[in-house]
Amino acid sequence: MAGEWAPTGIDTSRPSPARIYDWLLGGKDNFAADRAAGERILRAAPHSVTAARENRAFLRRAVEYLTDQGVDQFLDIGTGLPTRDSVHEVAQRRLPGARVVYVDNDPIVSVHARALLSSTDNVALVEADLRDPAAIWADAQVRELIDFTRPVAVLLLAILHFVPDEDDPHAIVASLLSRAAPGSFLVVTHSTADLAPELSREVEQVYDGASASLHTRSRNEVERLLTGTEPVEPGLVFTSQWRPAPGTDVADPKEAALYAAVGRKP
Ligand SMILES: C[S@@+](CC[C@H](N)C(=O)[O-])C[C@H]1O[C@@H](n2cnc3c(N)ncnc32)[C@H](O)[C@@H]1O
Repeated sequence: MAGEWAPTGIDTSRPSPARIYDWLLGGKDNFAADRAAGERILRAAPHSVTAARENRAFLRRAVEYLTDQGVDQFLDIGTGLPTRDSVHEVAQRRLPGARVVYVDNDPIVSVHARALLSSTDNVALVEADLRDPAAIWADAQVRELIDFTRPVAVLLLAILHFVPDEDDPHAIVASLLSRAAPGSFLVVTHSTADLAPELSREVEQVYDGASASLHTRSRNEVERLLTGTEPVEPGLVFTSQWRPAPGTDVADPKEAALYAAVGRKP
């Protein structure tokens, strides 16, 4: 939209994964190019809104599960724009002293998250890239908030599918895990073409014009990304199938559309 306000230094002409996702979730931190991309995605895959919501619902259940295991420190890489039930809100509801470091490489996430988090204790936002895991662990705010000698939950939700094979997502995950103490957890959700290859290809094409391209992966490939961890029950499933709250309707896996798993580092 002409005249739409944008923070300085933000390229609004090219859709970004964070802003497309914000639009799918009904958020307001997006621009015309993001909305146009979102509409193309919905034309190709009308279930995408359900998929985004189920991904957030999985995040909530996974963080609740982890706090129930006593995990009180979280590294959430690929945070996305602020929305309801962010990791620190869910975690600190159960464990008020829980520490959360958010990491994202999109400057618009930094602008919005920093403004929102400036007065929240034990929470920080680091602008960094998942493809440089050593820099994430070395970051001053990460070192200040995360105690490496105790278990930490590393959250990689709906982000690994923005890392192409050339950038070796397997090595990235292994590097993140190598610095985490035994008893740490890895949480992953990942887009797949297993259910609807044609639709997925069309969605991938939309992201070809965005600031990061989309790389869906098969169940085996996603399972391989969890190497080095022991899967928590029920293992690798679709987001809606991972420990659904008793008595709730479980969304059709075809609509949830993202694989999800929680693995524990022995
Ligand atoms: C679809 S959103 C997911 C947000 C949140 N994790 C969730 O699942 O609800 C993906 C986020 O990953 C971020 N992202 C993509 N590639 C990244 C990279 N290489 N390093 C850091 N962040 C990245 C995007 O900027 C975006 O905010």
